Formats: sequence, C-alpha cells, structure tokens
Amino acid sequence: MDRKIRKVVFPVAGLGTRFLPATKANPKEMLPVVDKPLIQYGVEEAMEAGMNNIGIVTGRGKRALADHFDVSYELEHQISGSSKEGLLADIRTILDECTFSYTRQSEMKGLGHAILTGETLIGREPFGVILADDLCVGEGDGVLTQMARIYAKYRCSVVAIEEVPPEEVHKYGVIEGSELEDGVYVISKMVEKPKPDDAPSNLAIIGRYILTPDIFDVIRNTPPGRNGEIQITDALQIQAERNMVLAYRFKGRRFDCGSVGGFVEATNYFYERWKEAQE
Ligand code: G1P
Repeated sequence: MDRKIRKVVFPVAGLGTRFLPATKANPKEMLPVVDKPLIQYGVEEAMEAGMNNIGIVTGRGKRALADHFDVSYELEHQISGSSKEGLLADIRTILDECTFSYTRQSEMKGLGHAILTGETLIGREPFGVILADDLCVGEGDGVLTQMARIYAKYRCSVVAIEEVPPEEVHKYGVIEGSELEDGVYVISKMVEKPKPDDAPSNLAIIGRYILTPDIFDVIRNTPPGRNGEIQITDALQIQAERNMVLAYRFKGRRFDCGSVGGFVEATNYFYERWKEAQE
C-alpha cells in the first residue's frame, strides 16, 4: 500500500488572546515573522513533506487566511515587471502546487474537537497536523518530513516531542515512553498539561502530529479533559493503548510563537536569515 501522506490539517480557529490587541481584527496566524505570516511557514513545511492538500479548520474572523492563499489580481498587476515581483514568488509556488480546503469550527471545544472538525477534509487516510504557533526549523529536512519517514516505517500515529525545562511541562502534553530507536519512543502514557509533580517526564509534545484516520472515531468517544475541552492528547492515549503511538524527538529547533517571547526569538532568528539572503 502507498505510504505517502498527502493531506495536512491546520487548526486555526483559536482567538489568539495572548497577542491582543494585535489579534483583535487580524488572525494570529497572519502575524508576520519578518516578512512572512506564521501560517505560511507551516504550509511550506507541509509542502516540503509532500502534503500538498492543505485543510484549514478555520473560525470567525479568519478570512484573511483564505485571501492570503489566493491570487491578488490588483496587487500582482501593480507590481508586475517591477523589482517587487520576486517578493510574491514563494506564495505563487504554493498556489501552483497546493490545494486549500476550509471548514469552520464554530465552537471552541479543544484541539481534539478541532481535528475532528477536519475529518470532512481528510476522509480515511493518514494525515499531518500543524499548529502554526509552533514555528519549526528542521535540521536538514523539515520536521514533518522527518516524521513522515517514521510513519512510513512504523505505520502508526507519531507526535513530535522535545525536552523542556521541568517548570514548563504544565504548558504541554507530556509523554512517558521507552526508546525504540534513537529519538523514537513507544508511548505508554501521555498527560495533558500536568503539574510538575504529575509529569511523567520532561518530553513535551509540540505542534506536529501524524495521525492515522481511526483517530476520528477515538476522538468522537473521548470525554472532555483538561479545561473541559476535548484533548487530542487524551485521544492519542487511547490510541496508544489499542495500537501503538510513537513520539519522535525531531532534529531542529522550535519557536513557541504562541508566546510573545518565543515570537520575538523567532523574529530575531529569521531576521538574521533574511539579512544573509540580502547579501
Ligand atoms: C496543544 C496541545 C498540547 C501540546 C501543544 C503544543 O496545546 O493540547 O498537548 O503540547 O499544543 O504546542 P495548546 O498550546 O494549544 O494549549
């Protein structure tokens, strides 16, 4: 059977309250890191991994996202033939190579619920999930490309993890597992946003997942967990008990652009890269 993953879901319905007032009328995924909105970094990572069918689980006030991934005739006509034309080259490539489908999550019932809302865009095949807030720079290959390799070998759901300081585990889903091969763990337990004393380790899930499609039925039967929301972490725990779920310590770097500090770090990092590209 074909092992290639073609689809990816971006849950983007969240309100981005941590960045108010910047996110009052502008989706947080459209905040630029240097000259590119956050979501475009994620779409480029998905495209590199061959996941060119982009599904966006959107919400109220997010129309700018759909406009970004579309042609802008007036603008393109204006800059056609000028030195500025090249600035739209990357997004042109995205539009040529990817398809975009949208569905709306009308109630905020958690990440698990957002992913379940995306079922209509995915159907019955394995798929990737990108939380655009986590901006990842892979070492060599992108993080989703690295994860797709693990999926092709083991054919089960895979979550990306990284070590975080113990005082930060309460912000993440945290796993317990045994190492199967270098950097790949079989998960025995996962806890959503534990107190430091309840955390099974300091290996935190970051916003990249590859999920097998049986996850949808599992989510449908997952009761609300932390914060009264349907958590993907809880659904994955059930999947781990039934089959196998792997955690993968990715090679590269992640910026937590859901926080102001992480966003500024990402900006500094990409500004250095931007300056190098100008030389
Ligand atoms: C979500 C997940 C959490 C994961 C995190 C990664 O939390 O629920 O398990 O560790 O993303 O960014 P959120 O950041 O949406 O609160």
